[in-house]
Amino acid sequence: MDVLLTGGAGYIGSHTAVVLLEAGHRVVVLDDLSNASQESLRRVEEITGRSLTFVRGDMLDQALVERVLREHGIDAVIHFAGKKAVGESTRVPLDYYSVNVAGTLSLLRAMQATDVRTIVFSSSATVYGELAVAPYLEKMPRDAFNPYGRTKEHIEDILTDVGAADDRWRIALLRYFNPVGAHPSGRIGEDPQGIPNNLVPFIAQVAVGRREKLVVFGDDYDTPDGTCVRDYLHVMDLADGHVRAMDYLADHGGVHIWNLGTGRGHSVLEVLHSFEKAVGRPIPHEVGPRRPGDIAAFWADASQALTDLGWVATKSLDEMTADHWRWQQQNPDGFAA
Ligand code: NAD
Ligand code: UD1
Repeated sequence: MDVLLTGGAGYIGSHTAVVLLEAGHRVVVLDDLSNASQESLRRVEEITGRSLTFVRGDMLDQALVERVLREHGIDAVIHFAGKKAVGESTRVPLDYYSVNVAGTLSLLRAMQATDVRTIVFSSSATVYGELAVAPYLEKMPRDAFNPYGRTKEHIEDILTDVGAADDRWRIALLRYFNPVGAHPSGRIGEDPQGIPNNLVPFIAQVAVGRREKLVVFGDDYDTPDGTCVRDYLHVMDLADGHVRAMDYLADHGGVHIWNLGTGRGHSVLEVLHSFEKAVGRPIPHEVGPRRPGDIAAFWADASQALTDLGWVATKSLDEMTADHWRWQQQNPDGFAA
């Protein structure tokens, strides 16, 4: 297939590009490089020994997107592009609604105009909020409680309405849990700009000496060791889930929702200790106050993805932290080095 990856130069997109190229698909990446480096794509080509097409541009430029869809004979779109920092979204919500929601509307208009009606969308476990009870099932109520999460809910609703209105659409909503790790080569990985918001990139930067210590956000939660529990999954497993979802849509119309997670949770301290094992020495840390908005514990019920896609996360927490560390150690300054 000819596949367009919006936001394909980013963390999850670049790993998905590797899996797609290795499966024999042709890949076109549209990315404005607002949160990525083109170097990631050069390394995707290096890893796979195959070439891809890169178009630098904004998904809000509908004419450009239509041209890309037509010129490359695109069969399916995997839609990663968007802004993803929860804290920032509470400060500049209009930017989040503009890029994430209006950007998706513009993309969908371009797809409709060019008769491309297969889309795999990057949603998030963050849509569940506090109404759901772990393990989260796809049918549980959604209740996102920050602007970033609400953009994901809005986009899910838009895609559901579009699919209901015209049965030619084939739509997958993938609710990712907590993607971590890197390609086992250590050549591509997550390269956050500024201070990392997420746990594993922060630990990695402490381990490599870019930050002084990890602050554990609270150890008085109602969990086995008092720290929050999340469902961390390896980014290569996640990438594989996209290819399976795309293959499924080739035979199935309509709108489909799948959780992508391992189905088990790990605490902040478990992640830290696993990372210490990978690095081979202790990582400085201290316990601080809770982070506002954090939920004590959640993880996926990913059995629907197993039933429909034959997908199951295969990699352990130790593989995630070892691969993440290999990438960070070999690229202490990310792609900038
Ligand atoms: P990322 O920031 O690394 O990738 C997003 C890419 O989109 C970047 O390369 C960025 O340059 C590009 N982009 C942003 N705005 C654009 C625009 N207007 N036009 C074209 N390109 C644009 O993020 P990621 O971690 O790879 O996440 C990919 C998707 O998965 C996002 O939609 C994110 O919300 C979602 N998601 C991520 C996580 C996670 O923990 N990483 C969890 C759940 C969901
Ligand atoms: C965050 C986002 C969520 C997003 C998810 C995956 C918030 C409130 N939620 O969730 O919308 O879908 O990332 O990208 O930001 N932690 C520390 N110290 C740190 C960083 C994190 O102790 O320096 C703890 C957190 O309190 C949490 C756990 O580590 O308990 C994981 O944090 P994080 O990686 O930010 O993921 P989520 O909180 O699950």
